[in-house]
Amino acid sequence: MRDMEQEKSIFITGSSTGIGKACALHFDRLGYRVFAGVRKKADADSLRQEASDRLVPVTIDVTDPALIMKAAGNVAKRSGEGLYGLLNNAGIGAGGPVEFLDMEKVESVIRVNLLGMIAVTSAFLPMIRKSRGRIVNIGSISGMLALPGASPYAASKFAVEAFTDSLRLEMRPHGVRVSLVQPGDTESSIWSKVQKNFSPVYRTDQVRSLYGFVIDPIRQALEHPRLQPVEKVVNAVEHAFLSAKPRSRYRVGRDARIFAMVRHLPDSVRDRLVMRGLERQ
Ligand SMILES: NC(=O)c1ccc[n+]([C@@H]2O[C@H](COP(=O)([O-])OP(=O)(O)OC[C@H]3O[C@@H](n4cnc5c(N)ncnc54)[C@H](OP(=O)(O)O)[C@@H]3O)[C@@H](O)[C@H]2O)c1
Repeated sequence: MRDMEQEKSIFITGSSTGIGKACALHFDRLGYRVFAGVRKKADADSLRQEASDRLVPVTIDVTDPALIMKAAGNVAKRSGEGLYGLLNNAGIGAGGPVEFLDMEKVESVIRVNLLGMIAVTSAFLPMIRKSRGRIVNIGSISGMLALPGASPYAASKFAVEAFTDSLRLEMRPHGVRVSLVQPGDTESSIWSKVQKNFSPVYRTDQVRSLYGFVIDPIRQALEHPRLQPVEKVVNAVEHAFLSAKPRSRYRVGRDARIFAMVRHLPDSVRDRLVMRGLERQ
């Protein structure tokens, strides 16, 4: 690991809760200047209370081009030595059987998880390129293996993987290192949010008779999630930003390592394993 370098600054999207907040507070404790992206004033206030005076909350909604440009301008003005790191973390979940998906939810998951990441990266890239800094994108195990009932989220996270691969190669001649962190199921607010948004349509007899084999395991997983501590993801993000030899991919958790193996199996074998796994839930 490098020594702590006081002047370095990192911009993090989605710092109000979960992985983003844990990373913001962690890098603040390490002595970095953290620009913590939030959408609500209350989240800015609570971060200010929990962190040192170095931490600067920055208002940003990753689906709003004007707010992205304003945030990039603010960070450029206040980052002194230049911006060293960008952590693209903001994300939302959405799922359900394809036949009954709510298209508004599908669009918003793609808008936040994929288009938002691309727009933020593009706006902050000149700063990161100048400092020969680092970019870390938060993907998911759903970006390695697309389970039934997770198509919108998985599609967004597979696309994040493709985007990160392409960006990593574009940044190579510029000395900017790009990493993808793929957490397994992790403690955060995302679980209660997905549970709250679980459409009542999926509880109807019609949907359950057709897709109970998809819906029931999702409900079971949401009601009794087996979650790893958020610190495991924070450690991977720290390695990606601070190690002299950052990895291109970090698979965080036992489920992530299993998904990474299963993805390479022939389709017929993989499908059988996934369906058997659903039956066992
Ligand atoms: N927890 C897991 O099991 C897990 C596993 C794999 C991958 N991930 C990924 O990890 C990342 C962080 O999620 P989390 O688990 O920490 O969930 P979380 O606690 O729900 O945090 C999500 C963050 O994203 C922000 N966000 C949502 N929509 C946004 C928008 N339009 N613009 C800006 N920020 C927005 C939220 O802000 P508000 O509070 O303002 O809504 C919040 O700060 C996501 O990309 C997620 O897909 C999580």
